Amino acid sequence: MKTLIINGSPKAKNGNTEVFIQQFIKGAGTSYEVCYLAKEDSQQLAEYMKQFDTIIVAMPLYIHAMPGIVMKLIGCMEPATDAGKSMGFIVQFGFMESAHSKYLEKYLSSLARHLNYNYLGTVVRGGSSGTSMMPDKMNKKLFKQMQILGEHFEKEGSFNIEIMNEMAKLIELSKGKSRVFQFLSKIGIGDSIFWNQMLKKNNAMDKVFDKPFAEKNA
Ligand SMILES: Cc1cc2nc3c(=O)[nH]c(=O)nc-3n(C[C@H](O)[C@H](O)[C@H](O)COP(=O)(O)O)c2cc1C
Repeated sequence: MKTLIINGSPKAKNGNTEVFIQQFIKGAGTSYEVCYLAKEDSQQLAEYMKQFDTIIVAMPLYIHAMPGIVMKLIGCMEPATDAGKSMGFIVQFGFMESAHSKYLEKYLSSLARHLNYNYLGTVVRGGSSGTSMMPDKMNKKLFKQMQILGEHFEKEGSFNIEIMNEMAKLIELSKGKSRVFQFLSKIGIGDSIFWNQMLKKNNAMDKVFDKPFAEKNA
């Protein structure tokens, strides 16, 4: 089984998507080829992908959707002419509720079928914005899950349903829990610790509530 993993993050090797991919490969115990969409010509990559049996596209969620570079690649892809090819997706993002990617997931499942690929499923993981900034011990559970997914994929050629369900378990927060998280975020506890660190590092803390695209006087 010849597998190609596509990193669909505009940040390429420097983003969180890369961490997910590397843990998946670690679990698989083999070195899958990884292509960085941000550094590739979409048309050429779409052509190159034709020689692989399985394609895994890993990406962040940007504005509730796939990044533009992934959309561009999809626009260049043609339906597979050989039967038996498979395609799966890994979507990770900032908000903790997996419901945020539900429209993208629906699109990806129909896309795979439209392109004549067997759909392996979409691994969904929210609450991931701080992944590459957090110490490894805080990512222990995520790393383990991604490694199990990789190991299972290498053996079975599919995504492990139990792990996928576990990772996407928090579908929507109850009203009570979301109030607790709003409070924690206000006092600087939670994911915002890492966001705030980055904002401070880039001298951007005072711009945190800027709305550069908002209409004036709106
Ligand atoms: C421009 C932009 C838009 C984003 N939009 C969303 C969003 O709609 N929902 C969400 O949960 N996270 C959103 N995020 C957070 C990213 O999905 C998250 O930080 C992800 O881990 C980034 O992965 P990467 O580092 O591989 O690019 C956004 C981040 C950026 C930079």
